[in-house]
Amino acid sequence: MKKTINMKKSLNITIALVAAFSLVSCFNDNKPNYQFMPNMYEPVGYETYGEYDIFENEQEAKLPAEGSIPRGWTPYEYDNTTEGLNLAKAELKNPLDITEDNISEGEALYTIYCAVCHGDKGDGQGILAEREKFLGIPSYADPGRTITMGGTYHVQMYGLNAMGSYASQTNEKERWQIAMHVMDLKAALNGEASLLETAGAKAADSTNMESSTEEGDKMNTEDAANTSENETN
Ligand code: HEC
Repeated sequence: MKKTINMKKSLNITIALVAAFSLVSCFNDNKPNYQFMPNMYEPVGYETYGEYDIFENEQEAKLPAEGSIPRGWTPYEYDNTTEGLNLAKAELKNPLDITEDNISEGEALYTIYCAVCHGDKGDGQGILAEREKFLGIPSYADPGRTITMGGTYHVQMYGLNAMGSYASQTNEKERWQIAMHVMDLKAALNGEASLLETAGAKAADSTNMESSTEEGDKMNTEDAANTSENETN
């Protein structure tokens, strides 16, 4: 009997505590407790996509100011014209280092975006070409088209006739990585050295030249041996 009274008592105390706590916890020193006409105190914002007379076209949402650049976007200066493409081919240079990582990243992206048309080898014999869904897909080794890294970047930005733009699906770095892989495919089709091999040879060349002016020919051969050792590692 005594036990049940005790239990009732403690239950009451608990309920009282919870009630008191929840009342106090909602109280905010910085705000009036009750607002009878809250619109007089709190501004009413416009809805982002709402219609309002005071705006041009009654439309709250506006286009960004002319010349705005989205975060992370680098402006691209070449025009979407044949002249633009030719200029990009001639002078647009890859800003990334030629590394194994960049090239293998480019290969993976190429397989996703480009291989359906251009084929895994870059010979223009992708699955869509075989099924004749798209015609006129060139081989990267097509001598009529002097395909360069800058030109490959350019056509990814704008597309070219039947080929669409990839500017919204890839970022700047990815487009250059893809372009590296394309140049590797072109080299392989032509039976030439890969990008990594050419870059390695260039690097070895320049160390040779530096050391030969500074320390003479004996060092030179040692250096060359060192670089080729590094390359195989
Ligand atoms: C829908 C099929 C299709 C896809 C996918 C495609 N291309 Fe193309 N590509 C073409 C066609 C068609 C042409 C020839 C366009 C022309 O000259 O009229 C072309 C041309 C090119 C050229 C030659 C441009 C020149 O200088 O003449 C390059 C380089 C190229 N594509 C790279 C790529 C890359 C890189 C991707 C992936 C990001 C890609 N393409 C995805 C169809 C495609």
